[in-house]
Amino acid sequence: MTIAYPSTPPVVAAPSGAPRPRLTFLGTGYLGATYAICFAELGYEVLGFDVDEAKISKLSGGDVPIHEPGLDELLRKNLSAGRLRFTTSWEEVAEFGDVHFICVGTPQRPDGMAADLSHVESAVTNLAPLLKRKALIAGKSTVPVGTAEWIEQLVRRHTPAELGVEVAWSPEFLQEGVAVEDVLRPNRIIFGVKSDWATGMLYAAHKGVFDLALTEDREVPVVVTDFATAELVKVAANAFLATKISFINAMAEVCEAAGADVTQLARSIGYDARIGNKFLRAGVGFGGGCLPKDIRAFQARAQELGVGEALRFLHEVDLINQRRRQKIVQLSAELLGRGYGPAGPDLAGTRITVLGATFKPNSDDVRDSPALSVVRKLARSGAEVTVYDPEGMDNARNDVADVTYSKTLTDAVTGADLICVLTEWEEFRNADPNSLNELVAARRVIDGRNCLDQSVWVAAGWEYRGMGKPAVA
Ligand code: UGA
Repeated sequence: MTIAYPSTPPVVAAPSGAPRPRLTFLGTGYLGATYAICFAELGYEVLGFDVDEAKISKLSGGDVPIHEPGLDELLRKNLSAGRLRFTTSWEEVAEFGDVHFICVGTPQRPDGMAADLSHVESAVTNLAPLLKRKALIAGKSTVPVGTAEWIEQLVRRHTPAELGVEVAWSPEFLQEGVAVEDVLRPNRIIFGVKSDWATGMLYAAHKGVFDLALTEDREVPVVVTDFATAELVKVAANAFLATKISFINAMAEVCEAAGADVTQLARSIGYDARIGNKFLRAGVGFGGGCLPKDIRAFQARAQELGVGEALRFLHEVDLINQRRRQKIVQLSAELLGRGYGPAGPDLAGTRITVLGATFKPNSDDVRDSPALSVVRKLARSGAEVTVYDPEGMDNARNDVADVTYSKTLTDAVTGADLICVLTEWEEFRNADPNSLNELVAARRVIDGRNCLDQSVWVAAGWEYRGMGKPAVA
């Protein structure tokens, strides 16, 4: 059933007796911290929980542990308004909340492609035995289909039946870099529920979102559905987005062989509204804490369900994505005049500057970052690699230790034989190649995100290589 809220809501009272349900967010990573802060901004009383004491003391002190535009200001505003608190105490969480949102990570398991559900399990088994009144435990984390049913069993095992604690699933779709906007103004909300009470409670827990939409003359579509569909909506959406990116990157491979330009091809097919122009940017491919691990976990779950063949194409999506990272190494060898053999190129003695470490701009997240993956490959091939990123340096250093990190763009490019732009930060897109001319050892650039103005760089005397574009010297 799809309802366009605001419409007549099902009314249920918060078990705590508070006028609006009190919300807890379990896990304060990229997802939970953003939700906790934004829902306090929407007027809710909010408690954020994490097992990581350092993270909680930072948040309590008004300091967001991640880089997400707009979040710092909202954190400080809502801390001082008294609506937002953070804790490491499960007792406090159980005492406080009417709706507990599970926002913990579900990373790829080290032993395979499946998702690691240990944080989800631990959140539920720590919280449930401490609950003293009815509450709703609602999942937001991305999970394999079937998880909500399993959580319901865990809850039954760990809480007395008379409390009537219920479970729901309401996946999130925020994109890092624009997460505040995505949470305050979502393009849809999904309620995976089993009862009218759970629907009413989720409605009440999102009423702030609907009220904001009302003041802006918008409607937020809500799909009320079963657990399995709600869980699948999230992974299906991410699988589709990953497939779209790999589709255009596959076209880039063909363009490279045929001497065509994938950026013009993407623009041309994107004018067809059935295709659309979003997520058709060819480049070094997708990374981050979501798309890569989600398509793998989805395949693993489909195998378990006996429908592995249905998702076999996602294996190709992954392979296309990995090949784009290797393509940067191949282009580097080509531009630097190094042979490319079966064991890869020998880049010893070359100085390569990589601009970008995060998986996308306006984030400090380096999880499965294509840029850092290329950094590792270049270093392994013998290149002396220098990295610069406006926000991701600390995280990058923790991930890849044995390369040089520069504090500024200017320092980073000084003496370089080749520059690779692998994250499309504004600072790189706007860089004036003429001002870099005297700093570099040679004017060679690989535009791994097709984000530079090719004509400007070529006019400044640079040998330019884009992704899926004809070579220009
Ligand atoms: C993704 C989804 O877009 C969100 O809807 C979802 O909520 C989130 O995962 C999640 O599961 O939590 P995010 O990981 O923040 O969000 O990043 P995206 O904006 O999807 O970008 C993913 C990667 O694809 C980046 O490395 C980006 O550079 C790359 N990309 C994106 C391309 O290479 N080409 C494009 O056209 C678009």
